[in-house]
Amino acid sequence: MSIMMRMSPVMSSTSPPSPLASPSPSSPPVLPVRSLPGSYGWPLLGPISDRLDYFWFQGPETFFRKRIDKYKSTVFRTNVPPSFPFFLNVNPNVVAVLDCKSFAHLFDLDLVEKKNVLVGDFMPSVKFTGDLRVGVYLDPSEPQHAKVKKFSMDILKRSSNIWVPELVSNLDTMWDTIESSLSSSSSASYIVPLQKFIFAFLSKCLLGADPSRDPKIAKSGYAMLDRWLALQILPTVNIGILQPLEEIFLHSFAYPFFLVSGDYKRLCQFVEKEGKEVLKRGQTEFGLSQQETIHNLLFILGFNAFGGFSVFLPSLVNAIASDKTGLQEKLRKEAREKGGSTLSFGSVKEMELVQSVVYETLRLEPPVPLQYARARKDFKLSSHNSVFDIKKGELLCGYQKLVMRDPKVFDDPESFKPDRFTKEKGVELLNYLYWSNGPQTGSPTESNKQCAAKDYVTLTASLFVAHLFRRECRLANTSYIFGTI
Ligand code: HEM
Repeated sequence: MSIMMRMSPVMSSTSPPSPLASPSPSSPPVLPVRSLPGSYGWPLLGPISDRLDYFWFQGPETFFRKRIDKYKSTVFRTNVPPSFPFFLNVNPNVVAVLDCKSFAHLFDLDLVEKKNVLVGDFMPSVKFTGDLRVGVYLDPSEPQHAKVKKFSMDILKRSSNIWVPELVSNLDTMWDTIESSLSSSSSASYIVPLQKFIFAFLSKCLLGADPSRDPKIAKSGYAMLDRWLALQILPTVNIGILQPLEEIFLHSFAYPFFLVSGDYKRLCQFVEKEGKEVLKRGQTEFGLSQQETIHNLLFILGFNAFGGFSVFLPSLVNAIASDKTGLQEKLRKEAREKGGSTLSFGSVKEMELVQSVVYETLRLEPPVPLQYARARKDFKLSSHNSVFDIKKGELLCGYQKLVMRDPKVFDDPESFKPDRFTKEKGVELLNYLYWSNGPQTGSPTESNKQCAAKDYVTLTASLFVAHLFRRECRLANTSYIFGTI
């Protein structure tokens, strides 16, 4: 059955999902209105019980799955952490949206707003971002959002001519490092070299700043960003350390900024000193103050870009490494036979399988698994089989890991199918790939909240794979590399 038929009447194969489009005459009957199932429970007890389920007894995926089964609905009320005891100003009540159709309402900015909801009702202290609300926390109705978004897209556009050469040379350095540690030891972790690579490559492309000009930053810049990131998001993520230690020490209170203030100051100095040109452009061309430019640049570099790739690239390596169906051989063949002799953005566009593996990894392991938005007004929200009344101010919460396994959209949704996004049918599925806070067929603009680097991310990841399978060295033997690191 085609996706068109399955998603009818609200989605078409040519346009991104539009949850509120009117049914055509041939559409199935209008969906029944249903009252929202689920409850927030008793004050304090409901949130704490849901928090313990979410982090400890069930884990996020089972937490949402069990409630879908219980309420026989992919849309329901529940609580999500953080909550009690030291998050008294955080309201954990959300409406979960867990199928492709209901999730797509998160992109409709006539219906929802995205002010301060990056990680839900909880917002890390603005001290982490220079006492400013940086771009990701701004709704497009706030004039400052357009300035920051246009600035971020301009940075990407201007760096496009150095993006691939920087990527390739930094990747060569990374694999050489891993290779030499392998020659002196039978195993090596690739995570530190990978993070150093991501940091150096992004600093050069986004800031025009070379970390090697500042020895402290070259050595520990990536670790400074890790610490700064971790302190902001710890109350909202599952680390997997022994319980109840994780609940007591990581999920019960927000960590204060002063623990990383030295690191952050050092990173600001690095941007100020080494990123002069981009800093000036933020002020002269986009009307940002010097402080707004510095802190937005650091957020884009550290949180969006470094944080995103640090989660995504290991998932990609794992996805390829754990395949037992001969995928590595197929990728090697495609990477070597297609795309010309020098890698470029254009060359990976010829590598259908490489790109599909990247998309499939983003589907099953979306690096930013939770997305939130607040109802701007009362409206009707549709799932595949019901319509629900949403009240102004309610917080919608989508857990992408389940949304991207919507059986009404993806055949055999739990399986990693490397070629899922190939051929015409696969390309049509890109309308429902939502990792970037919008469909893969959509475009980031100053009026929406889609990731500014939507295409850069998928092309960079494809280049990462192509480069790996082209390397004429010990590491090109991927069974060796994937079996070892
Ligand atoms: C694997 C890497 C990346 C992932 C997974 C990722 C993911 C995302 C997601 C999910 C959002 C939406 C957050 C929300 O509002 O709910 C977002 C926003 C954003 N991303 Fe990315 N991103 C990545 C890399 C990058 C890079 C390299 C840049 C560099 C420019 C970037 C710039 C931005 C910006 C500026 C926004 C805010 C958009 C807005 O406020 O309208 N991202 N990203």
